[in-house]
Amino acid sequence: MCGIVAYIGSEKAGPILFDTLKRLEYRGYDSAGVAVKSQESKDSLEVLKSAGRIADLEKVYLKLGSPGETVGIGHTRWATHGNPTDRNAHPHVSGDVAIVHNGIIENYLELRESLEEMGVQFQSETDSEVLAHLVRMYYQGDLAGAVTKALGQVEGSYAVAILCPRSPYLVCARRDSPLVLGMGKDAVYAASDVPAILSYTRDIVRMKDGEMALLYKDKIELRDASGASKPLELEKIEWGVDAAEKGGYPHFMLKEIHEQPRALQETFAGRILEIEGDVRLDLGMTDFEIRSLNRVSIVACGTSYHAGLFAKYLFSRAAGLPVDVEVASEFQHIQLRPGTLLISITQSGETADTLLALKKSKVCGVKTIAITNVVGSTVTGLADGTIFTRAGPEIGVAATKTFTAQMAALLLLAVRLGKARNYLTPDQARKMLMEFTRLPGLVQSVLEKREEIKAIAEKYAYAECYFFIGRDFLYPIALEGALKLKEIAYIPSEGYAGGELKHGPLALITGKTPVVALATCGKKVQSNIKEVRARGADVIAFASEDDSDIVKVASTVVELPKTRPALSAVLCAVAVQLLAYYTANKLNLPIDKPRNLAKCVTVE
Ligand code: G6P
Repeated sequence: MCGIVAYIGSEKAGPILFDTLKRLEYRGYDSAGVAVKSQESKDSLEVLKSAGRIADLEKVYLKLGSPGETVGIGHTRWATHGNPTDRNAHPHVSGDVAIVHNGIIENYLELRESLEEMGVQFQSETDSEVLAHLVRMYYQGDLAGAVTKALGQVEGSYAVAILCPRSPYLVCARRDSPLVLGMGKDAVYAASDVPAILSYTRDIVRMKDGEMALLYKDKIELRDASGASKPLELEKIEWGVDAAEKGGYPHFMLKEIHEQPRALQETFAGRILEIEGDVRLDLGMTDFEIRSLNRVSIVACGTSYHAGLFAKYLFSRAAGLPVDVEVASEFQHIQLRPGTLLISITQSGETADTLLALKKSKVCGVKTIAITNVVGSTVTGLADGTIFTRAGPEIGVAATKTFTAQMAALLLLAVRLGKARNYLTPDQARKMLMEFTRLPGLVQSVLEKREEIKAIAEKYAYAECYFFIGRDFLYPIALEGALKLKEIAYIPSEGYAGGELKHGPLALITGKTPVVALATCGKKVQSNIKEVRARGADVIAFASEDDSDIVKVASTVVELPKTRPALSAVLCAVAVQLLAYYTANKLNLPIDKPRNLAKCVTVE
């Protein structure tokens, strides 16, 4: 899992490579590197790479007097094969061929052995280095031809950019890893994601699997998997660079938490048919097919998995459909029976485990839907239908707005399924949809509680351990609250279904373990609050306005707007995000880039 960039144009490549790489740091940030065509001696390379942050490498580059010409490639890494060291950092070089790679070369050991038998000496422990040697071996004046031959031997996934100063163009290619190209004025760019190059150009080409591109400073030649040339499909990006920048907030995470009303609004936009009491979604399924469903199976990882658990409560009630939710890496596809709808939830659309689970399910012949935030991501090419959550780019590693946007998409899907299956009457559906439209405003009211939540977060910031409890729709949010606190505040935290506490975890409850009780739906959680209070724990309750009973049992109560249970789960999600954010902020931690974590995990 990494980010790659490339540039060919009329300006010095180095500064542009560093600038674009910094915008990809969310994809991995344990080492970085660039290779540029040398100014000094024609047909040679300047390569600079090291473990550590991009900004540090950039300082070294500037100290060296910003070497290099107007062509180059760059990489930001999240280690998979070999530790994050200088040697393992990309670009990998063989002679005058340099490559940057995002993905996994599954047969690299085999390839490495045969190259070593031919006398090739390896510099790193990475899978990627084999590609550099293969390209160099095949290169005889035709770089694209050499790359085609090299990639033909590779099993696995890749987005690559390849530079050889003897060639008049750069080569980019992709299979199962994202890569976009940008057409500028006298310049062509490549990057793993759009925001990286948005301040340079808005004319984007999203490369598809199997494609290769030859990048000249004034044109792009695109070829399909068979080598035939393809016309460029340029897409104009309408969203601003600001959307990918912090916009005045100290951290992307806080900015993204505050973007949730907008993200929800966008996710609902144009999809709610109030008069018909129905929802417009591109599911790739007829109503007849929806009626023939007897089960839903959901696969996802991390926060997206919690969105899946939320759907379990939702679909059974709104559409009469039983739901299995599985962590994608543990997915047992043999349990899929005809009549199952498989839903993969992945904000990035690139999570390897989720993609693999989806591929396995397709072998069983079931219908598939993807829920993702990234248009053109790999998952969209695999599923029969896709629901895009229109949350905009999310840079903070911890998912926030993409999570609540997933919940919004699932709310819409629940109504669509319920309506098509005649499980919801038009009146019931209409009523639900009307309430959905109020959700962005309700989330805004939760955001206005930020100071109250901040004070609580700061009071308990030094707790050794936290518990989150919730029932029904709020159980997945208890899990998500605990995950958020682990991810960014590094506080051991547990999420439990309220009723499950007494079956073991209660032994851990003491006066030093704050308990967050999500209490906006149902009264049963009150007895759980009493259980933990009796063991000396402080209880912070997120409850509905005017719930006088909660005030009697909890130590601190934050009131959230009253709404139907499924929607109150969205409100609680925002509240626990704020709690985690202000805790991590108090502890002065690197909130947007928590240790050991990456935004998008493209390895199994
Ligand atoms: C990583 C991220 C998590 C995310 C998970 C699944 O672990 O750090 O925040 O929830 O991947 O990502 P996806 O893109 O599939 O939703």
